[in-house]
Amino acid sequence: MKTILTGIKPTGKLTLGNYIGVLKRLKDFQNQGECYIFIADLHALTLPIEPSELNENSIDIACFYLAAGLDPNKITLFLQSSVSAHAEMAIILQNYLYMGELSRMTQFKDKSSKMNKNSIGLGLFAYPVLMAGDILLYDADEVPVGEDQIQHVELTRDLVKRINNRYGDVFKMPSAKFNKVGARIMSLSDPSKKMSKSDPKGDIFLKDDVKTIRKKIMSAVTDSGCEIKYDEENKPGISNLLTIYACMKNISIEEAEKVFNGYRYGDFKKCVADAVIEEIEPFQQRYIEIKENKLYEDVLRQGALKANKKSQEVLNRIKEKIGLLKA
Ligand code: TYM
Repeated sequence: MKTILTGIKPTGKLTLGNYIGVLKRLKDFQNQGECYIFIADLHALTLPIEPSELNENSIDIACFYLAAGLDPNKITLFLQSSVSAHAEMAIILQNYLYMGELSRMTQFKDKSSKMNKNSIGLGLFAYPVLMAGDILLYDADEVPVGEDQIQHVELTRDLVKRINNRYGDVFKMPSAKFNKVGARIMSLSDPSKKMSKSDPKGDIFLKDDVKTIRKKIMSAVTDSGCEIKYDEENKPGISNLLTIYACMKNISIEEAEKVFNGYRYGDFKKCVADAVIEEIEPFQQRYIEIKENKLYEDVLRQGALKANKKSQEVLNRIKEKIGLLKA
């Protein structure tokens, strides 16, 4: 049976991009193999964050995972920080990843370029080391992610080759799993930019009320012309809305284009808003119920027990291979 692993970092507010890129897909994954799903709270520390915000965001993500249809009896859901093997693995792996390759990571370049050079933390630089450890600790075969995380999974693959070449078969080779459609949902106000948790303009947040969601979609930037056609280069706004619609309805882009043949932009946007609300409204209701009844608490406790057990096995394997003595 294959093993599937993914995580979401509890910084900022989760967006429709996170939902389409990963959350929505997890329900199917849980029937395809053994799933380890976690809240990447140690990763959230790589940029300054208020303790109360980190707390609240972590609970929210646990509730969002469950609201997305993850069944605690089928999967292991846990907080990264409650499994100390993640930190230990990162300390080991940091010696096998090099400063040159880490400084070429797009996410690091993007984030650090907006910061004062003297306040860029070591953790931000070493972010992919921690992430590689997350993946390798569970012998993951598949890692469902959106497009922006593929580079980190590729780096993990390089690391596996490097370590296995030197020490024999230690780690399993993971691969990123992303959908061609929906791996990169763009901002509604600037479709040349990714929809991201830290960009409040043009983002649909999973906690936005229905009225706000409709308003944001109705005022999404569109393109010149009047045809509803997928053309990323010349019609990035319309292409993004078509992608969102196709993902909500579980249809292909071609099918979505056919639906809107002859539609005007305004009517098209209304249908996109309807489709998003139809799916997100019941999702939000489940989220509220899970949060109010604290249904996540026991799930996270049980998840930590299972994740600790599995990750210790792999941690012991690498320790032995590299020559660390067991007392
Ligand atoms: P994070 O928290 O930034 O994002 C969570 C997931 O959402 C995807 N995503 C998107 N997908 C489509 N369109 C978008 N606009 C969009 N924005 C975000 C991301 O690609 C991601 O899959 N480093 C990770 C968390 C992590 C992790 C891991 C993931 C830590 N360890 C191990 C997989 C395996 C992150 O910050 O994702």
